[in-house]
Amino acid sequence: MSPTGFPKPVLAIEGLTVSFDGFKAVNDLNLYLDRNEVRVVIGPNGAGKTTVLDLICGKTRATSGSIQFEGRELTRMREYDIVRAGVGRKFQNPSIYENLTVFENLEMSYPKGRKVFGALFFKRSAEVVERVGQVAGEIGLGEFLHQQADLLSHGQKQWLEIGMLLMQDPALLMLDEPVAGMSVSERVQTAELLKRISQGRSVLVIEHDMEFVKSIAHKVTVLHQGRVLAEGSMEAVQSNPKVVEVYLGH
Ligand SMILES: Nc1ncnc2c1ncn2[C@@H]1O[C@H](COP(=O)(O)OP(=O)(O)O)[C@@H](O)[C@H]1O
Ligand SMILES: [Mg+2]
Repeated sequence: MSPTGFPKPVLAIEGLTVSFDGFKAVNDLNLYLDRNEVRVVIGPNGAGKTTVLDLICGKTRATSGSIQFEGRELTRMREYDIVRAGVGRKFQNPSIYENLTVFENLEMSYPKGRKVFGALFFKRSAEVVERVGQVAGEIGLGEFLHQQADLLSHGQKQWLEIGMLLMQDPALLMLDEPVAGMSVSERVQTAELLKRISQGRSVLVIEHDMEFVKSIAHKVTVLHQGRVLAEGSMEAVQSNPKVVEVYLGH
């Protein structure tokens, strides 16, 4: 709690700027995310959406500004330490191990057995098995634990990668275009999945599919040229003339 008695945001981004050879891909950005909030970031291609996630997870270094996560300054931390601090990030292409089973992929992501070699010789403690079972259930793969990952559908592979992030129980989960390439029914199932896994954590999603955005977003932030163009409920953002002009009208 802050001195004023209001709960502090989990994530507070202030004045965040990154300049690539003089081009400001993210330009003096402010963004605040609450606990248990599902926020969706939308905006035209090149708006800086992916770059914001790169900055939060430490893949890209900020030129200026601050990113406070649960009171810690992420702009000065290494990528690995940011993961350990509780930030999980899913990239657009899944990075699962195709020749391992669902169980093995999840097991490997358990904080104590993270490395491939570690996992091979890792004694499967009851604790890990229990956690794998729990996460597999959450991502709808409870029936597929012993299936090799390359036999999963595109959607199931995406869910498996979300599961691998969940194994570390992140307080903030970030997903870049999670339903790209998914069938309609997989999109609906992904929305249900995100609602389930956002209990007790904050989720930051980049997405273009407006039906999907509408079904999961508590609040929507519209990025344009590295800045916040509009922010609010889906309805407010959709009827904002500036947003229609630069994005939704196309
Ligand atoms: N590492 C980089 N070096 C140079 N330019 C980059 C780099 N990363 C992103 N950009 C540029 O920054 C802008 C924003 O990119 P990006 O964040 O990927 O947009 P979005 O995800 O909203 O489509 C684009 O013009 C892109 O070309
Ligand atoms: Mg992008």
